[in-house]
Amino acid sequence: MKILVTGSAGFIGSNLSEYLLNRDYQVVGIDIFNNYYNPEIKEYNIREFKDNPNFTLYRTDLLDKQSLTDVFDKEEKFDAIVHLAAWAGVTDSFKTPADYVRNNEEATVNLLELCRKDHCNNFIFASTSSIYGNNPTPFTEEMSTDMPLAPYPATKKSAEVMIYTYSMNFGINSTIFRIFNPNGLRLRPDLALPKLIKSCEFGYEFPLYWKTEDLTKSGRDYFYVIHMFEVLEKVFAKPFNYEIFNLGNSSPVTLDQLIKTVEKVTCKQVNIKQLPPRPGEMMMTYADISKANKMLGFNPETPLEKIVEIYYEWFLKQEDWYKKVVSVK
Ligand SMILES: NC(=O)c1ccc[n+]([C@@H]2O[C@H](COP(=O)([O-])OP(=O)(O)OC[C@H]3O[C@@H](n4cnc5c(N)ncnc54)[C@H](O)[C@@H]3O)[C@@H](O)[C@H]2O)c1
Repeated sequence: MKILVTGSAGFIGSNLSEYLLNRDYQVVGIDIFNNYYNPEIKEYNIREFKDNPNFTLYRTDLLDKQSLTDVFDKEEKFDAIVHLAAWAGVTDSFKTPADYVRNNEEATVNLLELCRKDHCNNFIFASTSSIYGNNPTPFTEEMSTDMPLAPYPATKKSAEVMIYTYSMNFGINSTIFRIFNPNGLRLRPDLALPKLIKSCEFGYEFPLYWKTEDLTKSGRDYFYVIHMFEVLEKVFAKPFNYEIFNLGNSSPVTLDQLIKTVEKVTCKQVNIKQLPPRPGEMMMTYADISKANKMLGFNPETPLEKIVEIYYEWFLKQEDWYKKVVSVK
């Protein structure tokens, strides 16, 4: 099977590409190595599989319609597209909202247009839990997603609606995954786990944007990213006409619990720095995953402590510059 992975040098994309190559898929990657975070990290992410004969990488911008068309003309047909490329930061999206609109909405339309021209009939899209805004937890797929709290989820909502339109009008099989908090190797430097580990290892300040009393209230629904790839394979084999699935853990972990788990695994202490609250932040994200469980057998069974251990063990083996990279986000 030939799979197009957009955003193949990012956190999820590099892990997915490697996972698929290890299972003998042919993987075509597209990534522009943008500067949302240090592009050298993205080069580092792909270094172990970029020369795999089953991997072809295009350093193409999804916004460059002609170059994108050239890639599709050359590759002719994909069995599935996993569209991961995006600008993906909730609070950061207030700084450069236009980047989010272009890269998350317009880029998605460019891909859908090429699907329409018969290049692919299995479009899989990475949406986000932040689309649920202030809904009561746990979040179910049927809830209203019309009131996101930041530009980033607003652009993901817009992309979801556009995918629906293409699916209905042009029969493009489409599956949307509203992803909660995946963890795994090569995590983005702006995410909590790498920041906590770096704080333990190097004494860096861990920015806490909640009041201390909220440490036990603010929560995220962490799962091991490999469980997402297991269900992607099921959608490769059997596309849906149009479905939306939550992918989380259905068992949220408070920031307090996450900090304690990291301190236990590293046997070191996090250096917390209290900062004012940021706009757009959700107190708790928590997925109802019964639909993905029932229809795709999604079972994110890896416990948090194990996920932290896997990441920490891997982190310690990385090059010094990589370990010490500071996220400005
Ligand atoms: N990581 C999470 O916690 C999380 C949670 C929910 C949803 N998601 C979604 O999953 C997807 C992947 O997230 P990630 O954490 O791996 O992000 P990431 O930033 O690590 O990877 C995204 C990649 O897309 C590339 N890209 C962006 N715009 C592009 C364009 N116009 N053309 C070509 N390449 C482009 C970037 O260079 C980057 O390498 C995103 O769509 C994100 O919204 C992630």
